[in-house]
Amino acid sequence: MEILRIQGGQRLEGRVQVSGSKNAALPQFAAALLSGEETILENVPDLSDVRFMGEILAHLGADIERLGQNAWKIHPANIHPDAPYELVRKMRASICLLGPLVARLKRAKIPMPGGCVIGHRPIDLHLRALNEMGANVSLNQGVVEVDGTSMKPATIFIGGRHGSTVTGTANAIMASVLTQGTTVLDGAACEPEILDLCTMLEKMGAKISGAGSHLLKIEGVEKLQGCTHRVIPDRIEAATYIMAGAITRGEVCVQGIQPSHLGAFAKVMKESGIQLQELGEDTIEVKTDPSGLKPFEVITLPHPGFPTDLQAQACALACTIPGLSILTERVYPSRFMHIPELLRMGAEVSLEGANAIVRGGKTLNGAPVMASDLRASAALILAGLVAEGETWVHRIYHLDRGYELLDKKLRNLGARIERLPESALPPAFRSPVD
Ligand code: EPZ
Repeated sequence: MEILRIQGGQRLEGRVQVSGSKNAALPQFAAALLSGEETILENVPDLSDVRFMGEILAHLGADIERLGQNAWKIHPANIHPDAPYELVRKMRASICLLGPLVARLKRAKIPMPGGCVIGHRPIDLHLRALNEMGANVSLNQGVVEVDGTSMKPATIFIGGRHGSTVTGTANAIMASVLTQGTTVLDGAACEPEILDLCTMLEKMGAKISGAGSHLLKIEGVEKLQGCTHRVIPDRIEAATYIMAGAITRGEVCVQGIQPSHLGAFAKVMKESGIQLQELGEDTIEVKTDPSGLKPFEVITLPHPGFPTDLQAQACALACTIPGLSILTERVYPSRFMHIPELLRMGAEVSLEGANAIVRGGKTLNGAPVMASDLRASAALILAGLVAEGETWVHRIYHLDRGYELLDKKLRNLGARIERLPESALPPAFRSPVD
């Protein structure tokens, strides 16, 4: 196992290039199964979740070839519908295989996803949509089995009690692209990753109208072709680097992004005094107001609201801004695993239900901290960048699932951050409180 050691206090300056979006790439690997022809995906981030997805597709019988660090060739000429428990249980996004397998093979067998530290993540909306399209859905010994031999077009409201579902929408779109007739998805997710999936499917010959909106109409076709598709930039990674520049009061240019994907996040940053300047069409320069930053309020919502995947990082940023900031989680109400670790660094945060109330401005102190999920890990690193002394982050495999070369990119911005073997831990830190 590896750990990260961060020596806080360094102001970040310079340019950082954003990688392709994990949450766009994963459903697109699954979408490649919709055709027996070859698909090439470019600008794919080099992440453990992506490599897992490649292994799962290979297990399903697809020919998988890596064409370099950020490109993959997927040729699913002969595939079967049984996804392997050992791999699927490691990555929730594998639930996106349901739709394409049911559409192409009329059958799917996917182990039910396991628990998740960010909170309750049911798949009832995924299964209800398939059911309403005429599929027969059953759960046998923890495996979701879908018989799609009698699929039919349907008009479905796919939203749930927490609003729209991203991968649920992806599954419903992919299940309907080969179903003759018109399927309507109302209450669909409109995250940029869903729009990018529709763009890829249209390149394959799918007929989708309303892409990027909450109302999608899919005209089923007989067959889809392979395609070459370039994955959109990762807006969550981009925003994480913007907050890294802001938390260190530095000056950072975040390159290779689509500023329009940052909506509500950019609004909150600007209200707090973080100056975001668009330089050209794919770069944002971040500076902070010399007179200091103001506390902010955040409510996480489905797109175009403030992304839940940025809540933990924003919480860390709020710890460094004098005054009271309030962060409310409306998507995953218990997504606060980062808070006990921030408290270990001297932060003052109290939790009232799904609200984190941050009394910012106190100096943070470096400490051994435990990563628990992808975005909580990023939050701890942001805090470590400004804490006094050394911060040691354990279980950084969580980070490697979703951030390509994070420590290297931060080092290039001047951060004093090193990836070390666990044996490098000072003896006193060898057994962090579990
Ligand atoms: C996607 O997960 C992302 N993952 C998550 O990113 C992200 O946090 C989430 O969307 C919300 O934006 C990928 O795209 C691979 P949802 P997903 O279905 O699709 C409830 C990261 O850090 N719900 O949009 O699983 C659910 O409990 C990860 O990159 C149901 O009730 O999320 C949640 O409260 C973490 N029933 C809300 O909807 C369902 O059937 C949104 O979930 C499905 C979801």
